[in-house]
Amino acid sequence: MNWTDSYRGRRVFVTGLTGFKGVWLGLWLRRLGAEVSGLALAPEEPMLDGWPELTSRFHCTLTDIRDSAAVQARIANAQPDIVFHLAAQPLVRLSYRLPIETFSTNVLGTAHVLDAVRSLPSPPPVVNITSDKCYENREWVWGYREEEAMGGHDPYSASKGCAELVASAYRRSFGLKVASGRAGNVIGGGDWAADRLVPDLVRAILAGQPLVLRRPKSIRPWQHVLEPLSGYLALGARLLAGDQLVVGGWNFGPSEPHPLTVREVADLLVKHWGQGSVVEVEDPNAPHEAHHLRLDSSKAAAELGWWPLLTPEERVAWTVDWYRAWQADPSAGWRVAAEQIERYERRAA
Ligand SMILES: NC(=O)c1ccc[n+]([C@@H]2O[C@H](COP(=O)([O-])OP(=O)(O)OC[C@H]3O[C@@H](n4cnc5c(N)ncnc54)[C@H](O)[C@@H]3O)[C@@H](O)[C@H]2O)c1
Repeated sequence: MNWTDSYRGRRVFVTGLTGFKGVWLGLWLRRLGAEVSGLALAPEEPMLDGWPELTSRFHCTLTDIRDSAAVQARIANAQPDIVFHLAAQPLVRLSYRLPIETFSTNVLGTAHVLDAVRSLPSPPPVVNITSDKCYENREWVWGYREEEAMGGHDPYSASKGCAELVASAYRRSFGLKVASGRAGNVIGGGDWAADRLVPDLVRAILAGQPLVLRRPKSIRPWQHVLEPLSGYLALGARLLAGDQLVVGGWNFGPSEPHPLTVREVADLLVKHWGQGSVVEVEDPNAPHEAHHLRLDSSKAAAELGWWPLLTPEERVAWTVDWYRAWQADPSAGWRVAAEQIERYERRAA
């Protein structure tokens, strides 16, 4: 990693700072010597249980990204050197229940952030976090490349495709320096979202119940949270250095030739935990979700020198280690996250 000195003394603004990825990014940026601030909604109960004192650990104002004037004021006040935009409604199944909230948060919210940045006297660069789901999914067995068409069947995926188009319009119309990070299904300690494999398993284990899998054969680009974050940080460093060529889309996905199914990851999690069980349930009424999703990250490897560092087993082991430490001591998550960031840096050195 040749970017570890790029953030020292920099003012970095993170939207979604109280979310799963936001907390890890905030911790890592602070370790790199950045002054971190941001905005988010008030974290819900499980996040606060998993990350005690979360709101007082970061300088984060509670601001709804759908409120354009408030977003403008927060970003103007922060005068950032760079913005990482992570705030979103990030769940596919919830997007079927709340499509308007999903579109307004993910699409209009992205426009609000970019417009607030555009209004600054000297607009800073933006790393815009979208998703592997931004691509029109054709159930291909090979990975999507950055030039492929945007799309999305469900409201969440479509909202991320739209957020990419918003970023592209701000780039082309106003010359904003926006790079988009498109990562796969992320696992790691301290995720408490509903309808995600790891938090669902943790809840099942704590309740002494089996984990119910609805789509055991689905293939996803599983990766540990530190892998895409290192990609976002590499992009941000290049933008801070004034590199105009890194604007646009970037995939950050796992590299193994045989990506794991939901069932395989669940079995690995249970094995490492040493507890828990899994049952498969057919739900004929389940809403549509893509079956096959892979990313081609050759561009990031060739041009950013980024590639995944952890094996599938390590991704799972690091994740389980966090939850087991938290289970023994609810404040331990902060320490384990800091140790894992340090370990990841050593691995990359
Ligand atoms: N976790 C994954 O597997 C994954 C995969 C691909 C992409 N992503 C993307 O990464 C980003 C972060 O995801 P995450 O897993 O940390 O999600 P998360 O739900 O844990 O965190 C979301 C964050 O956004 C904030 N937020 C939500 N709605 C908001 C609003 N209206 N106004 C202001 N803030 C709001 C929340 O307060 C929280 O801080 C999202 O853009 C998501 O789409 C996540």
